[in-house]
Amino acid sequence: MLFNFSDKSVLITGSSKGIGYATAELFAQHGARVAIHYNRDKRMAENVFKDLNGNGHIIVQADLTDSEAAQRLVDKTIKEFGRIDILINNAGIYQEHPISAVTYNEWQDIWQRTLSINLLGPAYISFCAIKYMVKSGGGKIINISSRGAFRGEPKAPAYGASKAGLNAMSQSMAKALAPLNIFVYVVAPGFVETDMSAYLLEGPEGEAIRHQSPLGRVAKPEEIARTVAFLASEGSEYLTGGIVDVNGASYLRS
Ligand SMILES: NC(=O)c1ccc[n+]([C@@H]2O[C@H](COP(=O)([O-])OP(=O)(O)OC[C@H]3O[C@@H](n4cnc5c(N)ncnc54)[C@H](OP(=O)(O)O)[C@@H]3O)[C@@H](O)[C@H]2O)c1
Repeated sequence: MLFNFSDKSVLITGSSKGIGYATAELFAQHGARVAIHYNRDKRMAENVFKDLNGNGHIIVQADLTDSEAAQRLVDKTIKEFGRIDILINNAGIYQEHPISAVTYNEWQDIWQRTLSINLLGPAYISFCAIKYMVKSGGGKIINISSRGAFRGEPKAPAYGASKAGLNAMSQSMAKALAPLNIFVYVVAPGFVETDMSAYLLEGPEGEAIRHQSPLGRVAKPEEIARTVAFLASEGSEYLTGGIVDVNGASYLRS
């Protein structure tokens, strides 16, 4: 696929590893300036920075449980780049909290933390970035959701709800922002080979998980990155509000 992100400024949350890292690599290979965001893993973010093609990339730290940090993340990116053309809300957590196995306190903590990072984080960052997108004439927002939003997450209900909320928010924003030349998309992966899923893929359930897809494997982060890049490219505007499944036919909906 031929992409061209020359002169584009891209903020990718959670790009210290996994899907975010693969996405940063792909955008940089095709000319973008990338704001690499991390929370705790500064060393990995520095490795990503060293690895990226091209010049002008930056590294920004922010804990997305903190709404002021989310605002500082956008402001710092704007200070360095002057604009954000493409925002990719990718940072997220998956924490299991089966209802029969946790205390009420644990249940509340995990609900709050998950919604705060997976749903409120993207809502706050989008709010801050949109102001600048409007000033610069438009932009694109791509939110990384999950198959779990549709399929149900019996061991991680907060995760499923956070991603369903992200889908609904994206659709509402797509309607609100299209007149402002801002387009909003969702990518909903099934299992992807990253740190987030490693303990499951390497554990006793690994083989069964791989065979959820008729391809007999899970996705590589690069496969998610290519879908994101397609949506971020010129010509995909009319897909706004769309939720693109990238799950190897492991969960089909019509
Ligand atoms: N892997 C899968 O099977 C899968 C499937 C469907 C959807 N997804 C979605 O894809 C996205 C990326 O997942 P991944 O598998 O690439 O995950 P990952 O490898 O675990 O990376 C998660 C990223 O999110 C950042 N992050 C975590 N907590 C944060 C916080 N409090 N504030 C700011 N950033 C925070 C991490 O930063 P630091 O490491 O620097 O702290 C890291 O860069 C997530 O939204 C996830 O829900 C993943």
